[in-house]
Amino acid sequence: MELNMNSKEDFIVDKKNVLQSSIINSTLRDWQCLKCEITATNLMYPVFLIENDDDIQPIESMPGISRFGINKLRDHLEIQVCNGLKSILVFGVIETLPKDKIATHADSKANPVIKSLPLLRKWFPEVTIACDVCLCPYSESGHCGILNNDGSINNTASLKRIGEIALAYAKAGAHIVAPSDMMDGRIGAIKSILQAHNLLNKVAVLSYTAKFASSFYGPFRDAAKSKPAFGDRKCYQLPPGSSGLAIRAADRDVQEGADMLMVKPAMAYMDILKEVKDKYPHYPMFVYQVSGEYAMIYHAAQKGAFDLKLALMEILGSLRRAGADVIITYYTPFVLELIKGKSKL
Ligand code: PBG
Repeated sequence: MELNMNSKEDFIVDKKNVLQSSIINSTLRDWQCLKCEITATNLMYPVFLIENDDDIQPIESMPGISRFGINKLRDHLEIQVCNGLKSILVFGVIETLPKDKIATHADSKANPVIKSLPLLRKWFPEVTIACDVCLCPYSESGHCGILNNDGSINNTASLKRIGEIALAYAKAGAHIVAPSDMMDGRIGAIKSILQAHNLLNKVAVLSYTAKFASSFYGPFRDAAKSKPAFGDRKCYQLPPGSSGLAIRAADRDVQEGADMLMVKPAMAYMDILKEVKDKYPHYPMFVYQVSGEYAMIYHAAQKGAFDLKLALMEILGSLRRAGADVIITYYTPFVLELIKGKSKL
């Protein structure tokens, strides 16, 4: 091939198209990263509520995280609210109340979430409260739905119960109910029961849209005392390799009237996060950085693999870039402290 006479000029023109001129100082660098900003509004903080109001129980599998009785949670949240906390996701954990086939204590008067919601609303009027809706912390099987005698899921009975529990949390003061059970049809069932009780326009539904059957929930099952007594959750949580089912789940949630969508876990599922957000840009998109991800990052930093602050902000920023509007993370208190007084890290 003959040498192109213009090649020298082409080379010079090419050289003008540099990237480094776009990142000459921190303001220019920030302009490249606006989609990745992390403010308090982008964070939701999961908390574990126990029966004994004055107890606090550190969770061994999640160093730095504890289960709180309501009085201890009050002290803990006061600090977070001063740092700008906007929203929490509440999980109930029972130890003395009995677990049974129909998860009676998911919505009984003795349930720690039901008891605490009016207090949380009164003490923290500026905090938006979401409640996880599921049977597994309260059912003797540890499964997320009601089972038939042969161990299979009874969908009709499960939807009825999940609807009742969601309604009870809504009546007790939850702004948001968040079903994490992955039963077919639960968004529609919850919307119907809210409608029947004139709460349709007063309570939002955050769907755990694409919740995968993941290894990363290990520490949570210890934290929430919700390990399945037998079997696994592969018949209702999505197979990790499947993006098709995740998109179908999002389509269905939207049809059934979900207000907000979620992908869970986070880091290993960022392609799903992006695909769902790209398909439904008008829905606030949540991603859950789950217990195993929390522990993984904690232990890696602890062993000196990286700096916790830098690595965490890189991960959270990347989740925002992939399409997350809100990140549910146990690191919320740490991040609020980091971003305090700064518009951005
Ligand atoms: C209950 C529920 C789980 C999580 C949130 N809600 C556990 C599970 O499905 O096994 C996981 C949260 C975490 O790992 O941080 N259905």
